[in-house]
Amino acid sequence: MTTTYDMSLKHGVDFNFSLEGKVVLITGGLGGIATAANEAMLDKGASIAIFYPEFEADRVAEVMAQFPKDRAQAWCCDVTQEVQVERCVKDVVDHFGDLHILINAAGAITLNFAEDVMLTEWQRQIDVNLTAPFLCAREVGRYLLKSGHGGKIINIASQAATVAIDQHCAYTSAKAGLIGMTKSLAKEWGPHGITVNSISPTVVLTPMGAAAWSGEKGERMKTMIPTGRFAYTDEIAASILFLATNGSDMINGADLVIDGGYTIW
Ligand SMILES: NC(=O)c1ccc[n+]([C@@H]2O[C@H](COP(=O)([O-])OP(=O)(O)OC[C@H]3O[C@@H](n4cnc5c(N)ncnc54)[C@H](O)[C@@H]3O)[C@@H](O)[C@H]2O)c1
Repeated sequence: MTTTYDMSLKHGVDFNFSLEGKVVLITGGLGGIATAANEAMLDKGASIAIFYPEFEADRVAEVMAQFPKDRAQAWCCDVTQEVQVERCVKDVVDHFGDLHILINAAGAITLNFAEDVMLTEWQRQIDVNLTAPFLCAREVGRYLLKSGHGGKIINIASQAATVAIDQHCAYTSAKAGLIGMTKSLAKEWGPHGITVNSISPTVVLTPMGAAAWSGEKGERMKTMIPTGRFAYTDEIAASILFLATNGSDMINGADLVIDGGYTIW
């Protein structure tokens, strides 16, 4: 018996990865990876809402001057603070009239051997890398559920979430938690057309990456990456873009590792 299959059945993937008409909220929006993502999103027609912390306020005017005024707006929002997140997400919806995609890109790291990690240092990394993405996802998730039009949440985790790296204990704990959170949200919200995924880069050439992996230590690290180099910000932006568009509609709860093969050892 032969089985017939209609080869014309398609989901309707837009291979141009257009984000025309979409509103994207990006936390840590003045950071290295976020900057590349902002450019990619704007290039694909999206409007972008940038959340930045107060300590970066002096950079905002210069960065925003490069973006189209009607499609980019920045809000001072410490994403570890529940009240600020609630207020700013509401402001984004009021300003742009809608919201479709959240990119949790804010992050912070301090390097220390586990026995020397102070509680404040531990707590800070849990707050910025795990609690903040939850607060933002919860707030945006509430809006997306209410909107009925679905959406995308993309969490920037790290290779350090799946492989042990010296002096990363607090950061690893937070990012591993973020991957767990990603899966939980994906299961609960998938039925509502909201997909939730994470991206786990190796060292990326940003202020954060350069600070943690400079000099001989960085050169040694590169020898352990099969592709022999660190990642560039546009390479991470490319995956963010893919996960933001309908080409990824069937990807939910996944962690996309962008590490040149570092974690396949
Ligand atoms: N660069 C790397 O090597 C690397 C590797 C793996 C994962 N990551 C992750 O990628 C993401 C982006 O990192 P990046 O390399 O662009 O670093 P970055 O330091 O350039 O950007 C991080 C941004 O987060 C912002 N931020 C920190 N605390 C905040 C707060 N409380 N509220 C709002 N914003 C806050 C910072 O001001 C900064 O602009 C982070 O989550 C980071 O952990 C980076």
